[in-house]
Amino acid sequence: MPPYVGYPVAEKWNIHPSDVMLSTKTRLNPPSFLHGKAQMKPHQNPGHLPPADRRRLETLFDTFSELERVSIGYPCNQDWDYSELYPFLSFVGNNIGDPYRGSNYRQNTHEFEREVLADFAEFTKAPPDNYWGYVTNGGTEGNMYGLYLAREIHPEGIVYFSEDTHYSVAKILRLQHTRNIMIKSRPDGEIDYDDLRESIRLHRDVPPIVFANIGTTMKGAVDNLDTIRGIMDDLAISTYYLHADAALSGMILPFVADPQPWNFADGIDSLSISGHKLIGAPLPCGIVLARKQHVERVARSVEYVGVLDTTLSGSRNAFTPLLLWYALRKHGREGFTAIVHGCLSRAEYAVQLFRERGVEAWRNRNSVTVVFPRPSAEVMEKWIIAPHKDIGHLLTMPHVTYEIIEEFVDDYCQALPPGATKARAKLRPKTTARAR
Ligand SMILES: Cc1ncc(COP(=O)(O)O)c(C=O)c1O
Repeated sequence: MPPYVGYPVAEKWNIHPSDVMLSTKTRLNPPSFLHGKAQMKPHQNPGHLPPADRRRLETLFDTFSELERVSIGYPCNQDWDYSELYPFLSFVGNNIGDPYRGSNYRQNTHEFEREVLADFAEFTKAPPDNYWGYVTNGGTEGNMYGLYLAREIHPEGIVYFSEDTHYSVAKILRLQHTRNIMIKSRPDGEIDYDDLRESIRLHRDVPPIVFANIGTTMKGAVDNLDTIRGIMDDLAISTYYLHADAALSGMILPFVADPQPWNFADGIDSLSISGHKLIGAPLPCGIVLARKQHVERVARSVEYVGVLDTTLSGSRNAFTPLLLWYALRKHGREGFTAIVHGCLSRAEYAVQLFRERGVEAWRNRNSVTVVFPRPSAEVMEKWIIAPHKDIGHLLTMPHVTYEIIEEFVDDYCQALPPGATKARAKLRPKTTARAR
């Protein structure tokens, strides 16, 4: 009998099932920097997991492994290998406090965090000596931070955001009790500039806080910062705040030849990018960057932990800055340029493949989000897709290969009732600056 029957992952990698949870990747690629030392710190009281519980973990591991391939509807890159870093999970790291000011808790990775932020500052054209930031738990926290700064600076301000904005933003605004107005979106996902202009004009006695999408969740649309700043100029508004939600596209636009306006050079005050999206990570993470003078308005000193309290969370993840640092060092600008161009090429391939089959798929410029009419329930049973009203999308993240795209388009088209594609063609927006 073959050794590991019943444990598909163990069979596949030819390792003992009980070792599956000890990170398949670590075992296959022992951390090279440890040079034969123990891979994980030994513990005094290791304990033993009851066999039934161990089996549950094995099942979960197999489920995760199987779902990786069909996960194409969310912007999470699954193609990474951080196994060299796993030994650091043996320690109680904590990045509490301001990454630039240190803390009494010295088991931290502030030094690595600062290097990560310096790379992002370069990607986002932040003013070299006048930016501040930290590694967050994800895009949502970065957006909350930007809106917090904006509200502290303009307590009476009104936040404008489009209806295509991520759902978490309305929640943040409720939490902060900030006045806000939702603006209509265009069919391609960008904010409706006429509606924005009119809304700001009607409330021009208070500072506008514009929450701009740099890559919307469903359509990958980028709100035009030049147009938004033009609206302020036309209305003679000199005091305003611009936050950029660049959750996914913040790791795309630095690496393309013709980026839309999106960064500090284009006038933003703060910006949030997710780390687990294009870079990819086993734990959610992200970065927030802001102009330094804005952060100085909110800083408070806390003696107990010897920190300057500038971050939203108190205790902060010390491992995720290492993950981001590792990915940035490993790939560098050149590596990410290649990764992003690969994703964009596969996105265009997906659009063309759909169209050859009569399905009106499309994407925005510089976007890896391919939009198509909502797939059938049958298709969504096999594939992990995020539908919204009458559309669905796939994101050609690094793990979404040409073969996966072909298989999905096949499944999608086979599930369509005859004649359905023509009837659905009206879903294609008229105003989209479609990718060439
Ligand atoms: C445009 C946009 N903003 C914010 C978020 C929230 O980011 P996170 O899930 O990293 O908190 C997402 C998530 O998909 C997003 O697409």
